[in-house]
Amino acid sequence: MTEAVGTKANPIAFDHESPQHAENWVPEFAEMRSKCPVAWTDKHEGYWVATGYEAVVEAAREPRLFSSHKNFSPETASGHGGITIPFTPIPRGLPVESDPPEWGVMRGFINRRFVPKAVETFREDARMFATALLNRVIESGEMDLVNDFTGPVPAMVTMQLMGLPLSEWRQFADPLHAMVFTPKEADNYAEVVAGVQWVFQRCAEEYMRYCTLPEEDNLLSYFAHNEARGGNKLTLDEVLSFSNNIIIGGVDTTTALTTHGLTYLHDHPEEKKRLMDNPELLPFAREEFLRFYTPIHGLARNVTEETELCGAKLNKGDRIYLAWSSANRDPGVFEDPDTINFDRESNRHVAFGSGIHRCIGSTFARMMFEEMVAQVFARIPDFTIDYAKAHRYPSIGTINGWESMPIRFAPGPKVPCALEL
Ligand code: HEM
Repeated sequence: MTEAVGTKANPIAFDHESPQHAENWVPEFAEMRSKCPVAWTDKHEGYWVATGYEAVVEAAREPRLFSSHKNFSPETASGHGGITIPFTPIPRGLPVESDPPEWGVMRGFINRRFVPKAVETFREDARMFATALLNRVIESGEMDLVNDFTGPVPAMVTMQLMGLPLSEWRQFADPLHAMVFTPKEADNYAEVVAGVQWVFQRCAEEYMRYCTLPEEDNLLSYFAHNEARGGNKLTLDEVLSFSNNIIIGGVDTTTALTTHGLTYLHDHPEEKKRLMDNPELLPFAREEFLRFYTPIHGLARNVTEETELCGAKLNKGDRIYLAWSSANRDPGVFEDPDTINFDRESNRHVAFGSGIHRCIGSTFARMMFEEMVAQVFARIPDFTIDYAKAHRYPSIGTINGWESMPIRFAPGPKVPCALEL
């Protein structure tokens, strides 16, 4: 008897990091959902792929069976676990690559800096950054939407949140974006890695500086002055693990969401007009963009003991990829899932994950999206995209975004702004 498709004995041919997947992911996931919503592939030393909504959510909500923990040894640059497949040889992110009870302590330590009231205090700054960035280019009638706008705004808000000097925004934004799409074989890969290392070196330096000053209202200063657990402050490694998760988790993801959303509005001028005429629809549009484009395409877990997930038999030590993007297109949950519909009545998408690790920065992301789109509507509503010169990420397995996107618009005047760039 032949083994069912998608078992270890009869694996599927699938690699979420391949260019074919980037080109073809919608039909590829549709087939996997219908035939084997949890399937085994031999790529990257072998892993399960959960594509059905039920399987993805069930695994995400069971951290005891599906662990996020990562071990990493800086001496050998090796380790195992964590939330990426293949394994990323850098120290773990916190709280995302921890399990309870450690996770509860770590998330509890930063939670109050991410609640809606705290996020609102950054709205004026986000607006100022978006205004200043458009002032830089508005007279010329052209810019790169990603590199000049949707990339820098989240980078600058994150720098403000962390307590990093804004004057360094360009050195900060560029390597974080490039890291996501530059292949390991590229000539400039070492340069990009050095740029990212510089960002974390700056976090360490600023943290040490905040240790010598009275407490200020930013995260690095908060880490420097407060006890995370049982009378102990964070170690420097833990400070850098938090910085890694907040910076890498929040910057390019929000860039991808906003860029994708603006491509849709560019391609559907009647929908753009509808949103501009009815701004109260913007939050519904935003949630549809999150569902439809799912900036974090999928993330991994480690199976901690033998278990069954939607009929698949998983063993201790197996790795599993939870495809948030596929869950968000599951026709059993979303009617007509491959269509963007601002009037969708129920939208329980998992673009921000599900369970205990659900995104702590979702309110920040939503706020930044709103401020960026508001600037575009107010100042360059007629923008046109030069798709022939725009580039998608060659691999979308972790983040699904745009590398660059030249746009043109009617030149306009600078407007008064407290920040000049
Ligand atoms: C559109 C933008 C964003 C998307 C799509 C997104 C997506 C996600 C997803 C899917 C997770 C779950 C990870 C898992 O289950 O393993 C997550 C967690 C997280 N995100 Fe976001 N995120 C976004 C923006 C942000 C922002 C702006 C920040 C910070 C300012 C942030 C910080 C974090 C952190 C710290 C976690 C870990 C939470 C935990 O483990 O308890 N994210 N995000």
